[in-house]
Order: sequence, then structure tokens, then C-alpha cells
Amino acid sequence: MSPASRIFGFFSLLVFCLFSFVSSDDLQVLLKTKSSILDSNPGVLDSWKLNSSPCGFAGITCDSRGSVTEIDLSHRGLYGKFPFDSVCELQSLEKLSLGFNSLSGTVPSDWKNCTSLKYLDLGNNLFSGPFPEFSSLTQLQYLYLNSSAFSGVFPWKSLQNATQLVVLSLGDNPFDTAPFPEEVVSLTKLSWLYLSNCSLTGKIPPAIGDLTELQNLEISDSGLTGEIPPGIVKLSKLWQLEIYNNSLTGKFPPGFGNLKNLTRLDASANSLEGDLSELRFLTNLVSLQLFENKFSGEIPPEFGEFKDLVNLSLYTNNLTGPLPQGLGSLANFDFIDASENHLTGPIPPDMCKSGKMKALLLLQNNLTGSIPESYANCLTLERFRVSDNSLNGTVPAGLWGLPELDIIDLAMNNFEGPVTADIKNAKKLGTLYLGFNKFSDELPEEIGHTESLTKVELNDNRFSGRIPSSIGKLKGLSSLKMQSNGFSGNIPDSIGSCSMLSDLNMAQNSLSGEIPHTLGSLPTLNALNLSDNKLSGRIPESLSSLKLSLLDLSNNRLSGRVPLSLSSYTGSFNGNPGLCSTTIKSFNRCINTSGPHRDTRIFVLCIVFGSLILLASLVFFLYLKKSEKKESRTLRHESWSIKSFRRMTFTEDDIIDSIKEENLIGRGGCGDVYRVVLGDGKELAVKHIRSNSTDSFTQKNFSSAMPILTEKEGRSKEFETEYGYSSKVNEKCDVYSFGVVLMELVTGKKPIEAEFGESKDIVNWVSNNLKSKESVMEIVDKKVGEMYREDAIKILRVAILCTARLPGLRPTMRSVVQMIEDAEPCRLMGIVISKESDLKIKEIS
Ligand SMILES: *[C@@H]1O[C@H](CO)[C@@H](O)[C@H](O)[C@H]1NC(C)=O
Ligand SMILES: *[C@@H]1O[C@H](CO)[C@@H](O)[C@H](O)[C@H]1NC(C)=O
Ligand SMILES: *[C@@H]1O[C@H](CO)[C@@H](O)[C@H](O)[C@H]1NC(C)=O
Ligand SMILES: *[C@@H]1O[C@H](CO)[C@@H](O)[C@H](O)[C@H]1NC(C)=O
Ligand SMILES: *[C@@H]1O[C@H](CO)[C@@H](O)[C@H](O)[C@H]1NC(C)=O
Ligand SMILES: *[C@@H]1O[C@H](CO)[C@@H](O)[C@H](O)[C@H]1NC(C)=O
Ligand SMILES: *[C@@H]1O[C@H](CO)[C@@H](O)[C@H](O)[C@H]1NC(C)=O
Ligand SMILES: *[C@@H]1O[C@H](CO)[C@@H](O)[C@H](O)[C@H]1NC(C)=O
Ligand SMILES: *[C@@H]1O[C@H](CO)[C@@H](O)[C@H](O)[C@H]1NC(C)=O
Ligand SMILES: *[C@@H]1O[C@H](CO)[C@@H](O)[C@H](O)[C@H]1NC(C)=O
Ligand SMILES: *[C@@H]1O[C@H](CO)[C@@H](O)[C@H](O)[C@H]1NC(C)=O
Ligand SMILES: *[C@@H]1O[C@H](CO)[C@@H](O)[C@H](O)[C@H]1NC(C)=O
Repeated sequence: MSPASRIFGFFSLLVFCLFSFVSSDDLQVLLKTKSSILDSNPGVLDSWKLNSSPCGFAGITCDSRGSVTEIDLSHRGLYGKFPFDSVCELQSLEKLSLGFNSLSGTVPSDWKNCTSLKYLDLGNNLFSGPFPEFSSLTQLQYLYLNSSAFSGVFPWKSLQNATQLVVLSLGDNPFDTAPFPEEVVSLTKLSWLYLSNCSLTGKIPPAIGDLTELQNLEISDSGLTGEIPPGIVKLSKLWQLEIYNNSLTGKFPPGFGNLKNLTRLDASANSLEGDLSELRFLTNLVSLQLFENKFSGEIPPEFGEFKDLVNLSLYTNNLTGPLPQGLGSLANFDFIDASENHLTGPIPPDMCKSGKMKALLLLQNNLTGSIPESYANCLTLERFRVSDNSLNGTVPAGLWGLPELDIIDLAMNNFEGPVTADIKNAKKLGTLYLGFNKFSDELPEEIGHTESLTKVELNDNRFSGRIPSSIGKLKGLSSLKMQSNGFSGNIPDSIGSCSMLSDLNMAQNSLSGEIPHTLGSLPTLNALNLSDNKLSGRIPESLSSLKLSLLDLSNNRLSGRVPLSLSSYTGSFNGNPGLCSTTIKSFNRCINTSGPHRDTRIFVLCIVFGSLILLASLVFFLYLKKSEKKESRTLRHESWSIKSFRRMTFTEDDIIDSIKEENLIGRGGCGDVYRVVLGDGKELAVKHIRSNSTDSFTQKNFSSAMPILTEKEGRSKEFETEYGYSSKVNEKCDVYSFGVVLMELVTGKKPIEAEFGESKDIVNWVSNNLKSKESVMEIVDKKVGEMYREDAIKILRVAILCTARLPGLRPTMRSVVQMIEDAEPCRLMGIVISKESDLKIKEIS
């Protein structure tokens, strides 16, 4: 071996040694790094192992000498603290990319040993505390710290040494408020500047125009004031300028039109003024957002020739004149919002020419003419809103049925003609606003196929004819406004199937017939306005169960009694001369007779008033059919039907004859209690349920029974039995009423009392008090003796079953009787009934 080659050998050995020294050092650093960060994405750092070259590690790049130059662990699902101190021991490290992880903790204040770093990306993480001084990073070209939760004062001064910076992205961090940093405008290599939403205030420095390499300038969501600096027109490479949501004033500077490469301009939500004429040269614009400013003048007609314009948002300005008629005709136009201006002239016809358009929003202008036929073919359209203009003519039929449409808003124009059956195709239509136009004709039955509808406003038009009963298919409908039209015929009963309905206004039409009692079954109905129609018949008791904040039934032809629980809605019933009320002063007093189809029920129970013992064998019902006209002195002369659940040792006559003043022993919540002495000497208490109070119970149930009935197509034959309703429903109603009576007896309360709370009755009250044994005991009538309290609670349990909301869940009367028997409350015989004042119970057994 020649000395030369020996020397060479020595050197190569030396180089090798050096190499392995360096790389084993790097290895230690990396393994240390691995041990201090956790990867929630298992396996990401598996390749980082002792005894292997770090250059083969995932995310690691080495130079030709085997030194680590790049760590790229972005998007790896990492969390925990990153050991920044040791990573700077990697002396050749040029790139550290940790973006889009969940790394946390503070970044220590020393970047001194990272002097080779050119690329630092800590963006989109969960760090805390301030970002440290970094003036040693003089080679830095890319700095991404956006959305990484740094706070405090940013070391703007450090930027002075970062003269090589090409990308500076600091936005979306809650830094302390600072004036726009002058240091930035010296970074003349910058092509990307993202400083939005990081608390910058004050003016944009005029020297921003020196950053002639800038392609992207984003300084939105800040507190910037003053004008757009004139120098900005020198940024000829700019393709995106985002300055929205500041307090900028003044006009686009002269020469702004030189920024020919601009494709995205967003200056919305400022106080900019002047006209848009400078923008007419920006022919490469794809997206132009200028909403919420004070721009005035006309929209440059040149916009109509832009070939790439996709999104145009100019709403809430002071723009005048027409929309460029060619708008969108050459582009894949997507979206226009020019609402709230003073625009005139027609809607440009070709904005959906390429078939991509999603939204056309031109509300609150002074547009004229009609809707161009072309939009009837715009299958992609999701929102079509032109309310509050001066548009007229008929709506192209196809528009009603566009398959993607979510909202049609044509309100406050002069549109005429019908809503066509095409609407059945609008499967996604949620909102239909047609109010204040001259729409006419009948609503198509097909509107029931538009099943996504939630808000329908047809008010103040010239619609006529019947309201289609298919409206009941609109299960999501929450607001239906049809007032001030010419609708006639009945309000369809099917309205009771719109179970989400909260606001119903059908006022000022020519609707006739009865108010559907099904309205009472709408659980969320909040406002009901049926005023100024020709509605007749009684006010359904079912409405009592609603919790309405607005009820207006005025100016109709309603008759009968205003349900007691509704009489607090003063003024709601005016203009119905046939109505009477026992509580509303200005109304005729009601005569205490039941209507021709009312039943009076008498429950005969073995009770001691105030306390309670039930003799189940005596539970039976009497139905009294009364005629309205003939108010007989005694109950004797009425026709009775009797339904017994047990064999009885007395006759109906025994009972009926005893229901008279001298036998009265107490006035209960919803009826009086009479003493009845049977032929064999046994004494009973008989509770006579007054018709006006049973009404509210039977009717309430009756309305909750309705869904069952409507499923069977209404109340035709099955419904019209001897007692007015089907015997099945009837019995369930009786069971409910019986449950209420039991509750009254056990609690000693009336069915409706102030302490139950607004629009709550005894049933709500009892069920609210079922929390614990104690709270149940609490509601048992204090007059019930200690020894009977357990029995009372057994009865209460039966009562609760009887008052189940869904009629289907209520037991049959037969099983109620059985349950009461099983509860054995009747250990007592030979009851002595006395007046409430001196209660005595004599126990024999
Ligand atoms: C920076 O490097 C020097 C020498 O290489 C070393 O002494 C010092 O501890 C390092 N500092 C940090 C913070 O790692
Ligand atoms: C935010 O940082 C990420 C890297 O973390 C980068 O890819 C992205 O472009 C930055 N966003 C902006 C607007 O600068
Ligand atoms: C900043 O740059 C200047 C000039 O290049 C240099 O003298 C100074 O040391 C640098 N500051 C730091 C902290 O590295
Ligand atoms: C501003 O940045 C904060 C994080 O500091 C973020 O939560 C917020 O959504 C951003 N605001 C906007 C308007 O982007
Ligand atoms: C506008 O920017 C401010 C910060 O200056 C921010 O708080 C606010 O949320 C932004 N407004 C909108 C609508 O993003
Ligand atoms: C305009 O912007 C594009 C990127 O959108 C870029 O490729 C092109 O070079 C720019 N032109 C000028 C003159 O800066
Ligand atoms: C246009 O606007 C829509 C909705 O605002 C948005 O989804 C779409 O990305 C925008 N298109 C462009 C090219 O900016
Ligand atoms: C809108 O412009 C008119 C003149 O065209 C002006 O009188 C009015 O003050 C402007 N309104 C606003 C809010 O700028
Ligand atoms: C529409 O024009 C009329 C007069 O032509 C004007 O009174 C009204 O203010 C204008 N409405 C809007 C929203 O510009
Ligand atoms: C619509 O209004 C314009 C005036 O703005 C009128 O000339 C035209 O006849 C109207 N068209 C219809 C169908 O009423
Ligand atoms: C009911 O609707 C009519 C027509 O819209 C309205 O005039 C009336 O004020 C409404 N009633 C109430 C109580 O708001
Ligand atoms: C009508 O019945 C109520 C109780 O429902 C009663 O207070 C009132 O005195 C009765 N009126 C007449 C005229 O009988």
C-alpha cells in the first residue's frame, strides 16, 4: 500500500468515523424526541429504533453525509410536548415541519442552535404561551405558526433578521393587540403573508407596496383602519387579497385595476366607499366579495364578460343601476348575492347557463321584470331569493319543482298566477315565502308531496279555493301563514297531523265550517290565528290543552261556550255574537245546559266525602242525554243510559231520585256529592259530574284519542254511535274522567287550581309529584286519616293509569274495577256519611 493510499485510507476512516459520530448523535436526539412525544396514531414512529440509521426513519431526510436535515411529522396525529431544545442539537436541521398535529405546551425560548433552519411549520397545533424570540433564525424562509394557539406578544423584532422569508403565516393566534408590524414590509421576498385574525390594528403601512413578490396578502378579521394604501397597486403578482372584516375606509386606490392577476378579492365588512369602476379591469376574478360596505354607483357592465367569475357577493351596499345582463353567462357561475342595494332593471337571464348555480340572492332591491324562464332549468339551484323587489309576471312553472331547491323566497313583489303542481318535485324545499304578491288560484294538492317544507308563507295574496287536505302530510311544517287570501271551505282536519306546527295563521279568508278539534293535538302550537273568517260551531275544548302565546278567533260565527281555560285570552273571541262565557264580562252569560250531544255522567262510588273508601262493586256509569232547549227541573225526566261493571244492589232510579238539593253533602272539584240511602239501608255517596267540567276532561282525552280515529279515516260510522262517539273511545274517555275523579277524591283538590301552574291540571300536578313516596304522601288529602293513606295511594296509582295520555294505554273500565277491588279499600261497611264539617267514619268489621 502506497503512503498515498494509506493516507487516503486514513482519511476515509476518519470520514467514516466522523460520519458515524454525527449520525449516532442525531440518533440519540431523535430517540429522545420519540420518547417525549406521544403518537396517538400508533405506529407512526415505529421505524424510529435504536441500531438503525435515522435516515431511514419515517419523516426524516438526511443529506449526503448522513446528517438529518429535515423532520417532517406534519399530519401525524401527534400530541404531547415536543423537545425543541434537543432538536436544535441536530446541527444540519433545515426543516422542521410539525403542522396539523395536537402538540401542546410552550415553545422554549431558545432557537439559538437552530441556525440552519429554513422551514419551520408549527401551525395548526395546540401550543400555549408566547412564541419566543427567533432572531438567530437568519436562514428562515418559511414560517408557519397559524392556528397554533400562541398568545402574548409576538417578537416582531426578530423578523428583522429573517430577511429570507418567503412565507410568513401567523394568523389565527390570540396574540396581544399590536399595530401592523413595520418589520414585515422590509421582507421583500415575501410571496405569502397571512396575518388575519391575530389582533393587528392601526393602518396598513404604505410601504406594503414594496412587497412586490406578494401573491397572497391576507389581513382580515383584524382591527385595521385607514385607507387601502395606494402602493398596493404595485403588487402585480397578487392573486389573492383578503382584507375583510376590518374598519377600512376610503376607495379602491386609482390603478387598483392593474392587479390583473387577482382572482380572489374579499374586502367585505369594512366601510369602503366609492364606485367599483377600478374593478372592471380585473378580468381574472373568480371570487369577488364586497358585501357590507358603502360602495355606490353602478356595477361595471364588464363583470358580465368575466370568464372565470364564480362567486359575486355585493350585498348591503349602496349600488344602483342594473345588474350586468351578461353576468355569469361565460363562467361556471355559482353564487350571487346582491341583496340590499338599490339595483333596478331585470334579473340577468344567464347566470345558470353553465348549470352550476347554487344561489341567487337579490333581496331588497328595486328589480323589475319577471323571472327569466331559464331558471326553470337550473337543476343545481338551492336558494332562489328575490323578495322585496318590484318583480312581476308569472313564475316559470319549472322553478317550483327544482330538485335541489331549499328556499324559494318571492315575497313582496307583484308576482301573479298559480303555484303549480310541479312543486311536488321540490323534494328538498324547506321554505316557501310567497307573501305579499298577487298569486292566485287554488293551491295544488301536490303541495303535500313537498315533504321537506317547514315554513310556508302564502299570506297577502289572492289564493282561493279549498286548502288541500294533503297539507297534513307535511310532518315538518312549523309555520304556516295563509292569512289575507281568498281561501274558502273547511280547515282540513288533517292539519292535526302537522305535528311540528307552532305558528298557524289563516286569518282574513273565507273559511267556513268548524274549527278542527284536531288542532288541539298539536303539541307545539304556539300561535293560532283564525280571525276574520266564517268559522262556525263551538270552540273545540281540545284547544284548552294548548299552550298558546297567541290565540285569535275573533270575527267569526262561532257559538257556544268559550272554554273556561281559554277565557284568559281576552279579545281572542270578539266578533262572535253566538259565543257565551261565564267569565268574560262582555260576553253573554252561558246557560248551564249541555249541548245536544253532551253527556252528563254520574259516577257512583262508595265514598265518604273528603276521605275515601271506594266500593268497587258499585262503580258504574249513567249517561244522561239532555236536550238543550228543555231544561228540566229534575234529572228524572231525562233519558238515561246505564252501564254497569258489576251487579248492583240498587237501580238507577234509586240514584237519580236522590240527586237533589236536600241530599247534598258537599261540593267537590267538578261536581257535587249526594247522599243516597238505598232500600236496604246502605248509604252511598254519589258524585254527580257536572257537564261543564267533564267536558274539559272528556274532550281533552277525546282529542288525544283522535290520532287513532284519523288513522281510521275520521269519525264516520264508528264514531256516531248512540253516545256521540264510538263506544271504544267513549269508554277510554270515561276511564280518564274516572281517573280524574279518583285524583280529586284522593287529593281533595279541584281539577284545575292556581297552584298547579298555568295551563296545568290535576293530572299534570299529580304526575309531577310522583318523585318519591314522601311527595306522593304529601298530595294525599290531609283529611284522609293516617290509617287510610296507604289505600289512598293504591287508588292514586289506579288513577294515574286511568289518565295515561294515550287512550290506548289506559286500562279498560273492567280492569279498573278489578284493580280497585284488588286494592281492597273497602274494608269498611256501613258507612255513615255526614256533612263535610263533621266527618265520621264508623268502622264495623
Ligand atoms: C447549543 O449548542 C452549544 C454548542 O454546540 C451547546 O453548548 C448548548 O448547550 C446548546 N444549547 C442548547 C439550548 O441546546
Ligand atoms: C397555515 O399553516 C399550514 C401549515 O401548518 C399551511 O399549510 C397553511 O397554508 C397555512 N394557512 C395560511 C392561510 O397561511
Ligand atoms: C441578526 O442579524 C444581524 C446581522 O446579520 C447579526 O449581527 C445578529 O447577530 C443577528 N441577531 C441574532 C440574534 O442572531
Ligand atoms: C380567530 O382565531 C381564533 C383562534 O385564535 C379562532 O378560534 C377563531 O375562530 C378565528 N376567527 C375567525 C373569524 O376565523
Ligand atoms: C371580525 O374580526 C374580529 C376580530 O377583529 C372577530 O372578533 C370577529 O369575530 C370577526 N367577525 C366575523 C364575522 O368573523
Ligand atoms: C398570476 O398568478 C398565477 C397563479 O395563480 C401565477 O402562476 C402567475 O405567474 C401569476 N402571474 C403574474 C404576472 O404574476
Ligand atoms: C363560492 O361560494 C360558495 C358558497 O359560498 C363556496 O362553497 C365556494 O367554494 C365558492 N367558490 C369559490 C371558487 O370561491
Ligand atoms: C346611498 O347613496 C345615496 C346617493 O346615491 C346617498 O344619498 C346615501 O346617503 C347613500 N347611503 C349610504 C348608506 O351610503
Ligand atoms: C325603489 O324605488 C323607489 C322609487 O323608485 C324608491 O322610493 C325606493 O326607496 C326604492 N327602494 C329601494 C329598496 O331602493
Ligand atoms: C311588469 O311591470 C312592468 C313595469 O315594470 C310592465 O311594463 C309589465 O307590463 C308588467 N308585466 C306584467 C306581466 O304585469
Ligand atoms: C291575526 O292575523 C291578522 C291578519 O294577519 C292580524 O291582523 C291580527 O292582528 C292577528 N291577530 C293577532 C292577535 O295578532
Ligand atoms: C253555571 O255553572 C257554574 C259552575 O259551573 C255556576 O257557578 C253558575 O252559578 C251556574 N249558573 C247558572 C245560571 O246556573
